[in-house]
Amino acid sequence: MDSRVVQEIAEVRSQVATWRREGKRIGFVPTMGYLHEGHLSLMRQALACCDRLVVSIFVNPTQFGPSEDLSAYPRDLAGDLAKIRSVGEALVFVPSVEAMYPQGAQTFVEVMEVTQPLCGVSRPIHFRGVTTVVCKLFLIVQPDIAIFGEKDFQQLVAIRQMVRDLRFPVEVLGGPIVREADGLAMSSRNAYLDPDQRMSARALSRALTEARLRFAAGERDAKHLLGVARAILESISGIEIDYVEVRDPVGLHTVEGAVKSEDRLFVAAYLGRARLIDNAPLGGACGLPPASV
Ligand code: PAJ
Repeated sequence: MDSRVVQEIAEVRSQVATWRREGKRIGFVPTMGYLHEGHLSLMRQALACCDRLVVSIFVNPTQFGPSEDLSAYPRDLAGDLAKIRSVGEALVFVPSVEAMYPQGAQTFVEVMEVTQPLCGVSRPIHFRGVTTVVCKLFLIVQPDIAIFGEKDFQQLVAIRQMVRDLRFPVEVLGGPIVREADGLAMSSRNAYLDPDQRMSARALSRALTEARLRFAAGERDAKHLLGVARAILESISGIEIDYVEVRDPVGLHTVEGAVKSEDRLFVAAYLGRARLIDNAPLGGACGLPPASV
């Protein structure tokens, strides 16, 4: 199969139906485009475990708040298609807003609890938009496997919850965070950073690394580890902290007192108009130092 770009839902349905009849295993990577190596790593992961790959590119309006960056969100369809082709063959679904949200649409899918803390506080309608569009995409693509990046860890947890609650026959996999050489998690929104902000942005992953180093050295107290991470972010002018928290990776409950290796540190901060997020487990390997502890 050559890579094919389709805009119509009916075309996706008919291609997928053919693949299903042929017994093909279908992998799906939903995106909002302006692709980078983080997105491409999820596509490689899908190609490694599936016979066919579907990628969607859709800047989903319902997951942006009224004062957020919907109209400014970076777009580059031609570049995206070239990048997808460099990874392998895919059916690329690029729907219109009208196709995904028919005139007068009034149906949403909402995951009630894991969406409340962390990004849910400053982005109250965000996850409702995410789960609604992913639900629609799952119904159109009907994948066997769908892959989401751990970069947006709360999103991954919310999708897992939705799939469990709605009994979707889809296996949800997480993909590791892909980082720039200096540790900054790749993100389409890094395009908003000017050179100074780009330098300052390193503080997010450094805050995670510093807490992980303290954990590796034996520190287990959540408050202390949070203090270490927060101090690094506060030391950089131009960074406005949204949150720094330790939570468990399954239900995203706050961890107080003694932390476990798999508990995760979550950070979110504003640098100018960019809002950046990052996270990492306190122990174990995750692509950030210390790798072997
Ligand atoms: P988008 O931000 O384009 O991200 C698409 C997928 O790429 C998500 O699963 C995200 O977690 C993953 N991703 C982004 N940066 C990454 C990185 N540095 N390393 C690994 N994976 C990374 O997330 C969305 O779009 C939307 O909310 C979507 C799920 C498409 C629904 O609209």
